Amino acid sequence: MALVSMRQLLDEAAKGGYGIGAFNVNNMEQIQSIMEAARETKSPVIVQASRGARAYSQDRFLYHLMMAATELYPEIPTVLHLDHGNSPETCKSAIEMGFTSVMMDGSLMPDGKTPSSFEYNVQVTKEVVEMAHAKGVTVEAEIGCLGGIEDGHGMGGDGLDHLTDPDQAEEFVKLTGCDALAIAIGTSHGAYKFSRKPDGDVLKMDVLLEIHRRLPETHLVMHGSSSVPKELQDIINKYGGSLKPTFGVPVEEIQLGIRNGVRKVNVDTDNRLAITGAIRKVFMESPEKFDPRDYLKPAREAMKKVVAERMVQFGQAGHAGDYKPIPLEKMAERYRSIAVA
Ligand code: G3H
Ligand code: 13P
Ligand code: ZN
Repeated sequence: MALVSMRQLLDEAAKGGYGIGAFNVNNMEQIQSIMEAARETKSPVIVQASRGARAYSQDRFLYHLMMAATELYPEIPTVLHLDHGNSPETCKSAIEMGFTSVMMDGSLMPDGKTPSSFEYNVQVTKEVVEMAHAKGVTVEAEIGCLGGIEDGHGMGGDGLDHLTDPDQAEEFVKLTGCDALAIAIGTSHGAYKFSRKPDGDVLKMDVLLEIHRRLPETHLVMHGSSSVPKELQDIINKYGGSLKPTFGVPVEEIQLGIRNGVRKVNVDTDNRLAITGAIRKVFMESPEKFDPRDYLKPAREAMKKVVAERMVQFGQAGHAGDYKPIPLEKMAERYRSIAVA
């Protein structure tokens, strides 16, 4: 099965009232973890790669690994999505390489940390929508900025500094025609999101509900949605790590989002924690081992477990066989006919 457009997966998720996890990858083991979890839970999947991941994998390794995934897991509708594209050029190169979905994150300037103006965001997003839709490729955009800067995407400071303004969100969707909209509701990327279990003062689900009320047809995206489970933190710390106590986004809050328009849920940190914990365990318990498979296999298994759990919690489990993929050319035709109408 060829890679599928993200728009189709999100439209189906909206029909079925469920969310879809978008999991970040950099290497073969992470792709294998996701595909195995998808097979086990019969889930459609969104595999996403950041600019850093593209550089790490020299793009071509990533591309061919994803081709292997579609060959080995033909029953799984699989999207390859660019996470946090920082400019139209980055999105263009991703589309040329075969990504079936791109994020144009125009909420920040190309440096990935300076908040941009509304006008700039509209302009670059529109440019990418035009270019991507001509090829049937999906576009995610972002309005409002996430907090933190741990992994190079975010404007630093507090997650509450640049919350999405619902008025602007409404205007932005009208002006750009994006397929999915990432919103800022107080979360940050990375492990250190909240210093206590988040309540409505720091995790603004009310903002999400208001945006969904105004844009009921728009597929919403939650970034920074790792739950940072204490069990995963404990494994790392037990085996020589030193994570400070921290809290992520509780799964029940994500589920509330999913009942209110959230169709894509971005998770990277939880998988990083699972992988690192598993590797640390082998290193501490069996210091005589030196075959990378001895620690990469448990790492792969640990990530698969987290991904499968999220697939069930987000509701995508069981939906892999619901529909036939629409080829990108057909998607492009659809976009053209909407533009003419
Ligand atoms: O939002 C960012 C993702 O967690 C990917 O991070 O840029 O370190 O690959 P990265
Ligand atoms: P986490 O750091 O919470 O996993 O968020 C990942 C993300 O939003 C990728 O775009
Ligand atoms: Zn993100």
